[in-house]
Amino acid sequence: MTDQNFNEIKQEALLLQKQLAEHNYSYHVLDDPVISDAEYDRMMKRLLEIEEQLPELATPDSPTRRVGAPPLTSFDTADHSVPMQSLDNAFNDQDIIDFHNRVAKLLGTSEIRYTVEPKLDGVAVELRYEQGILTLALTRGDGTTGEVITDNARTINSVPLKLTPPPGGGGGKNLPGFLEVRGEVIINSRDFETLNKNRLEMDEPLFANPRNAAAGSLRQLDSKVTARRPLEIFTYGIGIARGLGFDSHSGLLDTLKTLGFRINPEIRTGLTVNEVLDRFKELEAIRENLPYEIDGMVIKVDDIAHQNALGVKAKSPRWAIAYKFPAMEETTVINDITVQVGRTGTLTPVANLEPVSIGGVMVARASLHNMDEIQRKDIRIKDTVLVKRAGDVIPKVVKPVTAKRTGDEEVFVMPDSCPVCHSPVRRLENEAAVKCINASCQAQLKQRIKHFVSKAGFDMDGLGAKLVDQLVDREVIHSFAGLFTLDKDTLAAMDRMGDKSAGNVVRAIETSKRVPLKRFLFALGMDHTGDSAALLLCEAFSTLEAVMAATKTEIEAIDGIGPKTAASVVMFFENQENRAMIEEMVRNGVIIEDHQALVNGPGEGEGEESQKSVFSGKTVVLTGSLTTMTRSEAKKRLQEQGAKVTGSVSKKTDILVAGESAGSKLTKAQSLGVTVMDEEELTEQLNRG
Ligand code: IVH
Repeated sequence: MTDQNFNEIKQEALLLQKQLAEHNYSYHVLDDPVISDAEYDRMMKRLLEIEEQLPELATPDSPTRRVGAPPLTSFDTADHSVPMQSLDNAFNDQDIIDFHNRVAKLLGTSEIRYTVEPKLDGVAVELRYEQGILTLALTRGDGTTGEVITDNARTINSVPLKLTPPPGGGGGKNLPGFLEVRGEVIINSRDFETLNKNRLEMDEPLFANPRNAAAGSLRQLDSKVTARRPLEIFTYGIGIARGLGFDSHSGLLDTLKTLGFRINPEIRTGLTVNEVLDRFKELEAIRENLPYEIDGMVIKVDDIAHQNALGVKAKSPRWAIAYKFPAMEETTVINDITVQVGRTGTLTPVANLEPVSIGGVMVARASLHNMDEIQRKDIRIKDTVLVKRAGDVIPKVVKPVTAKRTGDEEVFVMPDSCPVCHSPVRRLENEAAVKCINASCQAQLKQRIKHFVSKAGFDMDGLGAKLVDQLVDREVIHSFAGLFTLDKDTLAAMDRMGDKSAGNVVRAIETSKRVPLKRFLFALGMDHTGDSAALLLCEAFSTLEAVMAATKTEIEAIDGIGPKTAASVVMFFENQENRAMIEEMVRNGVIIEDHQALVNGPGEGEGEESQKSVFSGKTVVLTGSLTTMTRSEAKKRLQEQGAKVTGSVSKKTDILVAGESAGSKLTKAQSLGVTVMDEEELTEQLNRG
């Protein structure tokens, strides 16, 4: 190779290194990608090629280092320049007020401002930069000595391999010569689920929680394994920082940000003690919507002069405290496992627990999802189990506490007949669910009717869940059509119904008889056909007759409708009983209004919906796990299309997006008549919007 050639290639490598580092920063620190993944991969591939040919170009800060280094046989250890202390814990507001009073007394002033940060549930690490280059990464270890995990830390995309020079010229000259940055390495909840799902498929042991997964990934002797794990970092402190000075903790965070570090967006600064308490409540409320797990809030005196005056104790500083959330996990005993039947006939095993208070809420039941889940976790009747509650999601049985087994535990067997209608059940191929396939099963009927009368369907006000249960149990109604012949006397004879409320229900039923096609299609409760699929069908076919006559190919051709929905719609209308039921409804006075296409152009009425995203102006809640995108991606895309994404289901909720294993939010949404979308529908709609 000639000198000229070498120089050209070196220039290309340097440019690629610089560009890749910038793109990496945009993507992983700013969460704002500039180029496509494919473009990034192509550039990385080229740089790897060059560095393989000319290894002297593979500097320690080259982005290629992120793919991992040769495996180690053991970890070296090294001392922290400044010990990594831990924090005292507070468990209630009074503890925080006491902390504030202590601080105020020591400082001789009550004019104290705080910075508050989410307490990330991950693994604390320290990163050392010399002349701007990452040279050492240590775990916290015992606080004095940690393990050297430099190769592993380099694989974490949000860990800068090189500091960003501050703006205003001077380049590398303005960088601190020696800097130790501290932060928390985490795995976000979505990535954790995916990681465990893959491990399950590979028959590898599952991680108990994201923190264990992060710790296990960071302690890999082979950094190529670490490189494949979705680790992230948020930084929140320093050890030694030569050449940098700060007046405040918030100033320190700002500096870290300009140097290229990732700082948690939920950090608030300049707060009085009362504002600190308010922020704790806020964090508690949004906790479940955060993409990562937090176990509390860290409160830090912001003024560095104050911090220095307060000083440190043996294990923790006097200027900071952790305010912990109430524990969300408890152990209790499974008294029994019963089986519930849903709208589509799915049998769900439910653990009936010895009631236990978890984070202030009594928990007596937890869904066990399906037989596979029970077998995988080896959960038995009478087992002592670890139960986890996350926000208002249905409590989950994490695992049995096998050490507590006495031998009296019983293995649960899924019934081979429906516990409600006693007809045989079927397990569909490639599906974990066992289903009752008797279409007139009372349990399914109840759920289907609740869906039928809900707000997005026939909107029969006053026909609540309890009333529907009674009407089905007492065999007053056997199908949707029966609803339209209900009279006041029959209704008044039900429990907790008076003449007045019966009259109101009759009136609501009467008014509901005139129904727009879209709501009618929704009410039928066909699989994979929610509110938005119903609208698409309306727009394509306008009349019920046309929808009923449509072929699978015709339906699939609609932009935004997938094969599952198409198959389900065709199957529904091919069924003679379903057709007969529709005819009976019409005989009972139901008038299905054709879909009114908009003639005036956009700006008014229904037609506008087809111009705009269905999410525009809507309040949307995400629940359950999504498989094709992360929750934060989904949230971002929904917001781009004008949706307001909130954490809990209420009357104000317009749409609930229910991923896999959706729990109590789904039940609540259904009972409120909120439109429910599955992931397929979500993706379809996002792609249209
Ligand atoms: S500050 C002396 N800030 O909590 C200051 N720690 O119990 C010590 N942690 O070992 C750390 N988020 O692993 C700080 N925003 C945050 C934190 C945080 C999580 C962890 C960290 C530390 C432990 C202290």
